[in-house]
Amino acid sequence: MPLKKVLYRIFHFILRLVVLLLPYPKQNIITGAGSIKKLPEVIAQFKMNNVLLVTDKGLMALGLTDSLQAGLKERGIKFTIYDEVQPNPTIENIEAATEAYKNSGCQGLIAFGGGSPMDCAKLTGARITNPGKSIAKMRGLFKVGKKIPPLFAVPTTSGTGSETTVAAVVTDSGTHEKYAVSDLKLIPPVVVLDPELTLGLPAHITAATGMDALTHGIEAYIGLHGTRFVNEAAEKCIKLIFEYLEKTYNDGKNIDCREQMAWASFYGGAAFTRASVGYIHGIAHNMGGLYGVPHGLANAIILPFLLEFYGKKAEKKLAALAKLTGTAPEGTPKSEASRIFIEKIKDMNRKMGIPSYIKELKGEDIPLIAKRAEKEANPFYPVPRILDQKELEEVIARLLP
Ligand SMILES: NC(=O)c1ccc[n+]([C@@H]2O[C@H](COP(=O)([O-])OP(=O)(O)OC[C@H]3O[C@@H](n4cnc5c(N)ncnc54)[C@H](O)[C@@H]3O)[C@@H](O)[C@H]2O)c1
Ligand SMILES: [Fe+2]
Repeated sequence: MPLKKVLYRIFHFILRLVVLLLPYPKQNIITGAGSIKKLPEVIAQFKMNNVLLVTDKGLMALGLTDSLQAGLKERGIKFTIYDEVQPNPTIENIEAATEAYKNSGCQGLIAFGGGSPMDCAKLTGARITNPGKSIAKMRGLFKVGKKIPPLFAVPTTSGTGSETTVAAVVTDSGTHEKYAVSDLKLIPPVVVLDPELTLGLPAHITAATGMDALTHGIEAYIGLHGTRFVNEAAEKCIKLIFEYLEKTYNDGKNIDCREQMAWASFYGGAAFTRASVGYIHGIAHNMGGLYGVPHGLANAIILPFLLEFYGKKAEKKLAALAKLTGTAPEGTPKSEASRIFIEKIKDMNRKMGIPSYIKELKGEDIPLIAKRAEKEANPFYPVPRILDQKELEEVIARLLP
């Protein structure tokens, strides 16, 4: 093994020990259809009467925040709305939300939406208590600084798991680089998992976000940082997605399916926030930063190609997942079971209208994407097989239209 790879593996080993010792905070999880109505009372228990509601224009237009707004008014909790969050949120979004928070004298944040509003709210919180530190300076692990104000997370997609993760992903609109800020302080103390809020999620977003959750589960499971907790959470996530994602795609108004998907996403987040992700996310983040490809869609497309590229290094665990999901019958040889599992993912993509290529991808950008993905992943992601820039270029080339 070349020296570089040995050093990466030593880093992975140390990181694993650090992660094992981390004091993950307990979250208050409010669940069930209509559970959003309980949030104002919970906010009042935090002894605050003025909050910033961070969301996006699409959700506002759908009236999805209406019942929450009515509940806040009833409880006498003042709120200011920041609804300019873009998909793949930018540093500008965070700075504008921070201004709105300060100008209105808010005391806490409601993160209402998919990963984009949730991540924007997390980093807004980080900027409020750390005014002297730019988002760029918080990039990486444990660099936020002071504790953020109380954050109430209300996911309206079932994919990112941001409601339970240490991460917030941001795009620098100057360089088109997308990166993560990861810190225990970004884990929201309160989460509302209300499947009613996801009933109107369009089928194509249901598909893409669901595949994001699947990618979290799989990357956490096949990486080197699996613990009993991680493996169980990843298994729950993957099993639920295999059982419910296509059903939800075909029958979006089915509240039971929506509820199962909300849990799948949550478990995926719980797994990867401890065990990290891998190159699939490393590449997907750059497809988002460079071309604005929705995060889940990028993951869905990259997932089977990268699993194939891992080859023998991921075979045993993928075979275990084939068994867990009933994709391959008992006794199927590992290499065959792993292949069947990957084929099943391709089939799910096909059935949900997800292509097998990234339509925006240009050949001349491949070295830059590979370089940035390599920088993001090595040595931070405990991947089953360490890849260098050239190997990543090879995988990315397979995603050309
Ligand atoms: N923090 C983390 O741990 C983490 C993990 C994975 C991904 N991410 C990040 O999250 C972002 C992606 O989040 P996302 O995939 O949830 O998408 P998103 O938040 O960007 O939302 C996508 C679109 O769906 C719409 N939408 C959301 N909920 C809806 C609903 N209930 N009904 C109708 N429309 C709805 C939004 O208005 C938006 O137009 C990316 O920036 C990604 O990098 C973060
Ligand atoms: Fe993701």
